[in-house]
Amino acid sequence: MNNITGMNILILQGSPRANGNTAWMAEEYRKAAEAAGHKVALVDVSHKKIAGCMACGYCRGKGNGACIQKDDMQELYPLLAEAEVLVLASPIYYFTMSAQLQAPIQRIYCMNKPGKLKKMALLASSYSPNVYDGAIGEYRGILNYWGVEDTGIVTAKNDEQKTDATRGRILELAGKL
Ligand SMILES: Cc1cc2nc3c(=O)[nH]c(=O)nc-3n(C[C@H](O)[C@H](O)[C@H](O)COP(=O)(O)O)c2cc1C
Repeated sequence: MNNITGMNILILQGSPRANGNTAWMAEEYRKAAEAAGHKVALVDVSHKKIAGCMACGYCRGKGNGACIQKDDMQELYPLLAEAEVLVLASPIYYFTMSAQLQAPIQRIYCMNKPGKLKKMALLASSYSPNVYDGAIGEYRGILNYWGVEDTGIVTAKNDEQKTDATRGRILELAGKL
């Protein structure tokens, strides 16, 4: 289906398990968003070489917004610059988002805010219930800081993973764009 109001969506998927629960959630979101006419880039950041921010300040000075570290984050910057919707998809590791996802999030520092971004969503998967406060707090902090709209959050604990119910909630979330 082609939708003239289709948006550019970037999904950052932060689990190293290619057939795991977070990858499944990200893929379900991608399918739902594409079916609604949006353009989606889904990036498995855990198989990229992306280091943490060095706080060197290069981007704020000589770099004029560019990061001095020339790793795989360079592939993400153009996608971030075009993204109107950013979806963070993470497994819960020690009550927060995975390190693999934290690194690219913190490297957005050099952009201040992705220029075209209007909306965000969070997908998260865990073993236990009630372990999402850390990830949700970070997600809400970032979207308030950037002044973008929260389209919603879908979580899936052990018995909710890869279920029709969770697929339905992801479909509903993608429908809110
Ligand atoms: C290093 C590590 C830390 C984890 N920490 C938590 C945790 O704090 N709470 C929890 O409920 N599950 C925790 N888990 C379980 C994962 O969140 C859970 O299995 C999740 O569904 C994995 O997603 P994936 O299939 O996309 O990799 C942890 C797993 C790993 C490998």
